[in-house]
Amino acid sequence: MKRALITGITGQDGRYLSEFLAAKGYQVYGLVHGQANPKAALVEGENPRLELVEGDLRDLPSLIAAVEQVQPDEVYNLGAISFVQLSFRQPELTAEITGLGVLRMLEAVRIVGGTQNNPIRFYQASSSEMFGKVREVPQTEATPFHPRSPYGVAKMFGHNIAVNYREAYGIHASSGILFNHESERRGHEFVTRKITSSLARIKLGLQDSISLGNLEARRDWGHAADYVEAMWLMLQQEEPGDYVVSTGETHSIREFLDVAFRLAGYDSWEPYVRHDNRFDRPAEVDLLIGDASKARDRLGWSPKVSFEELVKRMYENDLALERRSAAQ
Ligand code: NAP
Ligand code: GDD
Repeated sequence: MKRALITGITGQDGRYLSEFLAAKGYQVYGLVHGQANPKAALVEGENPRLELVEGDLRDLPSLIAAVEQVQPDEVYNLGAISFVQLSFRQPELTAEITGLGVLRMLEAVRIVGGTQNNPIRFYQASSSEMFGKVREVPQTEATPFHPRSPYGVAKMFGHNIAVNYREAYGIHASSGILFNHESERRGHEFVTRKITSSLARIKLGLQDSISLGNLEARRDWGHAADYVEAMWLMLQQEEPGDYVVSTGETHSIREFLDVAFRLAGYDSWEPYVRHDNRFDRPAEVDLLIGDASKARDRLGWSPKVSFEELVKRMYENDLALERRSAAQ
């Protein structure tokens, strides 16, 4: 039975990946940080094949201990401060966890190492946010980086250090440059979930309006369940590498609002949306659209959930959740 260690197990992707790997027959271990982390019980309840281990991406000894305890075949480093807006307010903490955390996890893998015949394989959760002020459209693995946030800068460090450990120590380290992916499990701070959960509340008469920032930004949005498959496929390749993972479609926040409000039975979202400059960013990423040809050709990967289907699933899930909590 293969063994996988996932950091960021309590996050959106960690939860999908642990279910995906368990279905493939893996014994899955998830790194949980903090004292009495309230999300630990939730993820344990969701997946009976998941075992939790303690550790923090700020603390190298705890990561070495976790890798020693688990003896994984594969490590998926998903843990991070992942909210771009927070990274502007807490840039040092972001650099510490999202940036240096990658170095520490790689060190733990290098030090513990695995067996000679079966060295540990490593996945790094890189991000399209590294492209930032994009140098070309669409973005590929060869597009230069120009990050626009402390988060993007930290991810760029994480990406480059993973490449460096691959080249310097021969570690089987792959980076997935994943474009935005959302789901029914997306955090409420991200724009898509903020819209679908607020819309569900508007529909039920529990809320009057949604306050948002920049509606012109464009993102390449896919479904997280599709994207975790690409992570796994990368680690099954003979050679490690870097892969863009995206749908190849881009939509503005306005278009997301159009689809969501139409699905909820409204003619227009404009009467319900207010601009609040607290949600504007000091520097913005205006346009992301990925070219995932390499992932398609070498991994045989393609996304299955369309943009419209993604919005529908998120809205319907939030409507059901809001109905349930209103009935209690
Ligand atoms: P998420 O929901 O925000 O999850 C982040 C995870 O990191 C949580 O489990 C969190 O744990 C954990 N974490 C935070 N600080 C930690 C620390 N000091 N030590 C150990 N773990 C820590 O993010 P996601 O959407 O699942 O994304 C997964 C990864 O992919 C992240 O690295 C993100 O930056 C990257 N990424 C995401 C997207 C996307 O569109 N979703 C796109 C590209 C790249 P607690 O919740 O328990 O604090
Ligand atoms: N969060 C948020 N809240 N974003 C808003 C709002 C709002 O009220 N109003 C407008 N936006 C705009 C942001 O300015 C940004 O241009 C866009 O919506 C998307 O913001 P987020 O949903 O917060 O995601 P993100 O693109 O900044 O970052 C996500 O995707 C990255 C990959 O490109 C995160 O998941 C990152 O961790 C990930 O790396």
